[in-house]
Amino acid sequence: MKPLLLPCSLLIFLLPVIIYVECVPDSHSASKQEHVHFDTGGLSRDSFPKGFVFGTSTAAYQVEGMARKEGRGPCMWDIFTKIPGFIADNSSGDVAVDQYNRYEHDVDIMQKLNFDAYRFSISWSRIFPNGAGEVNWKGVAYYHRLINYLHLKGITPYACLVHQDLPYELHKKYKGYLDRQIVKDYAHFADFCFKTFGDKVKNWFTFNEPRNTAVLGYDDGSFPPARCSKPYGDCSEGNSSTEPYIVTHNIILSHATAVQIYRQKYLATQKGRIGIILDFNWYEPLTDSVADNLAAQRARDFNVGWYLHPIVYGEYPKSMQENVGDRLPKFTELEVKMVKGSMDMVGINQYTGYYVKDDQKVPAVKSFQKDWKAEIVYERHKIPIGNLVSEIRQTLTGFTLLPGQCTK
Ligand SMILES: *[C@@H]1O[C@H](CO)[C@@H](O)[C@H](O)[C@H]1NC(C)=O
Ligand SMILES: *[C@@H]1O[C@H](CO)[C@@H](O)[C@H](O)[C@H]1NC(C)=O
Repeated sequence: MKPLLLPCSLLIFLLPVIIYVECVPDSHSASKQEHVHFDTGGLSRDSFPKGFVFGTSTAAYQVEGMARKEGRGPCMWDIFTKIPGFIADNSSGDVAVDQYNRYEHDVDIMQKLNFDAYRFSISWSRIFPNGAGEVNWKGVAYYHRLINYLHLKGITPYACLVHQDLPYELHKKYKGYLDRQIVKDYAHFADFCFKTFGDKVKNWFTFNEPRNTAVLGYDDGSFPPARCSKPYGDCSEGNSSTEPYIVTHNIILSHATAVQIYRQKYLATQKGRIGIILDFNWYEPLTDSVADNLAAQRARDFNVGWYLHPIVYGEYPKSMQENVGDRLPKFTELEVKMVKGSMDMVGINQYTGYYVKDDQKVPAVKSFQKDWKAEIVYERHKIPIGNLVSEIRQTLTGFTLLPGQCTK
């Protein structure tokens, strides 16, 4: 398998943590903290609408540590970070920033920095070490401690149920997201979390960036479970032309089932809201030709539209139906009813922008990334789409910041 420096979206999700750790004055200067002046370039809370929520966000596997302790079962990353060559520097989330033990300190920092909210994820395999069945009550107690402490410090908890950390046992048992059984096991986990934490958590997300699970896990194989067709990555098995679509289909059904459970069993008493978090890059046509404009729209459809369109309209985007054909699974009439409208809110993780040009070449081997019939381009007339953000990200993906992209 090909060595990775670090999975890019995981790296980026580390940033909020890194930023707040770096901004905090040492404890002996804490009394002076109110007088610290940050140059925000004129930007302040007043620049945002009243009630705008500022928060930080993390993934369980990236921050908790205690990976194989206090009864937690392995998730996919626990197994894959140990495969020689999968992670270039052999690092793993075994200890991470040890939030499992140091959550009070972390939450104190959030409070000092005047944050309103903390979006954390719940490690499925810490609650159900085998993905289903027996409950690990020590894990349950940890989330109670964390949530109680957030409330004590006036920080609103936002809980995400799955952040790229499927219990490994479910992969071993039936290949995880490739099997429809995942919908049942996920629903059971979600139901347990609503029942157990829902009196104290009013903002729920079902999945974080499921597109990355489907594409990086099953189209190019750079994330666990490292499945793909040969030309697209160094994978021992997989099928890039079908599996990303099956995985997403089962994730959407899992999401919608959980939302249905929340609304039917818990909403009346708990009065919370529920949604999903999607990652998105802006796709800008390279030229103003019709072909490039259509290519850019396909790129948007195949990324954020893949999830958002079914959740809003009950079916995949038309451009996906046309280009993927019968490799794209279909929702039954009953499933359409459940999927359509299955969110109260949506989270968008915005990373960067790319130019896109039309590319109608027929690939020798079909894959998700070739189905868009679009090529990603980083420069126009030798000018990058935006300033490169950092050396690390440049090495990884050619990440750039596109000025004004958020307003599009
Ligand atoms: C990672 O582990 C492999 C195998 O144990 C070892 O050969 C390699 O030197 C390690 N790399 C680093 C950066 O520690
Ligand atoms: C992937 O699955 C499709 C549809 O079942 C099949 O036609 C194709 O040969 C498979 N490709 C690989 C690389 O296994």
